[in-house]
Amino acid sequence: MAKFKIALMPGDGIGNDVMDAAKIVLEKIALDAEYVQADIGWELWCKEGEPLPQRTVDTLKTCDCALFAAITSKPKEEAEAELAPELQGKGFVYRSPIVRLRQMFDLYVNLRPCKAFKGNPLNFRDGIDMVVFRENTQGLYAGVEFHPLPEKVRATLEEHSPRMAAFEGVPSEEMAVSTRIFTREGCRRIVKQAFEYAHKFGYPTVTLVEKPNVIRETSGLMVREARKISAEYPDIELWETNVDAMVMWMVKNPQDYGVMVSSNMFGDIISDLAAQLVGGLGFAASGNIGDNFAVFEPTHGSAPKYAGLYRVNPTAMLLAVKLMLDWLEETETAQALEQAIANTIAEGKVRTYDMGGDSGTLDMARAIADKL
Ligand code: NAI
Ligand code: MG
Repeated sequence: MAKFKIALMPGDGIGNDVMDAAKIVLEKIALDAEYVQADIGWELWCKEGEPLPQRTVDTLKTCDCALFAAITSKPKEEAEAELAPELQGKGFVYRSPIVRLRQMFDLYVNLRPCKAFKGNPLNFRDGIDMVVFRENTQGLYAGVEFHPLPEKVRATLEEHSPRMAAFEGVPSEEMAVSTRIFTREGCRRIVKQAFEYAHKFGYPTVTLVEKPNVIRETSGLMVREARKISAEYPDIELWETNVDAMVMWMVKNPQDYGVMVSSNMFGDIISDLAAQLVGGLGFAASGNIGDNFAVFEPTHGSAPKYAGLYRVNPTAMLLAVKLMLDWLEETETAQALEQAIANTIAEGKVRTYDMGGDSGTLDMARAIADKL
């Protein structure tokens, strides 16, 4: 039996292009792994009314982790309209499969490393090496929301918060409320993972990005937990910043930051900014990581206009493979892959269109595989 079992989920559009690139590299790496293909995405929604079929969930449960490329998703009405005629009007509702995977497998870490590779013409500046840890399951994206505001919820809020007086006289149907729920354990575990990563990979600081001076209770809880965890790591300094100031610092002095940790929405925002500083969607990979399972992906979508043309940059997908190797503790192979990517970019001979070249997706993957 192979040491690892890994699911491959290409999904839709350029998801297939970049997964083919990943396969070239995986073949060269020759990991002791069994790979299984699993269905996910828009085409399955259209044909079966389910973008994440139970057979895929069952397969994932037998795997150590998964590599996911990209899927298409569309707003409610369009989703309904593209369903196979025999499925229409039967109550099928499209829900994001990746969000469901995060919930189903409790993938509470969203890991987004953003490194400026030497020679990448898209770098905002050289020397950037940021790693964002975004809490992936709680906060503003947990989906506990109301519109209109139910009377019972309103009455309870009015009873417990004097600040509700500011909304006196506003009809409940004119009010929308999205909650920002943090748990102590939710804060603890994301900060802990950030410190562990800083410790393992030698980063001297962890920067907490919140807004505790204004969002006192939730950001405040995160800050208090972070200070406790920081005490366990005397060699790593905890920097506390406010999210609004942080985005200015990220542009002004991006080289000063290393590991950063934040809640779900703030983490989402700063990780997109960090990605753009090092070349944008072609270079942004992420890991959705839990204690027992993980899904690694490029952060870009299915880019339908490039689907099947094999023109997009495979680097983000290959960096997702690198993150997977780290997580599987195949550390040397992970290092070698990152070095091969770095060398290929530094040479500048093989470049996809986003980098100003005309090489194809698979040319770039082969150039990287050749250096392994
Ligand atoms: P997108 O990320 O698919 O593409 C936007 C543009 O970015 C592309 O047209 C292309 O110019 C560029 N781009 C993306 N990936 C690239 C790569 N690897 N190399 C070079 N250039 C690249 O975002 P868009 O167009 O907003 O969404 C398309 C579909 O993807 C939608 O259905 C959307 O819902 C879905 N989506 C899925 C995601 C996922 O699977 N995690 C994430 C984002 C969007
Ligand atoms: Mg995002």
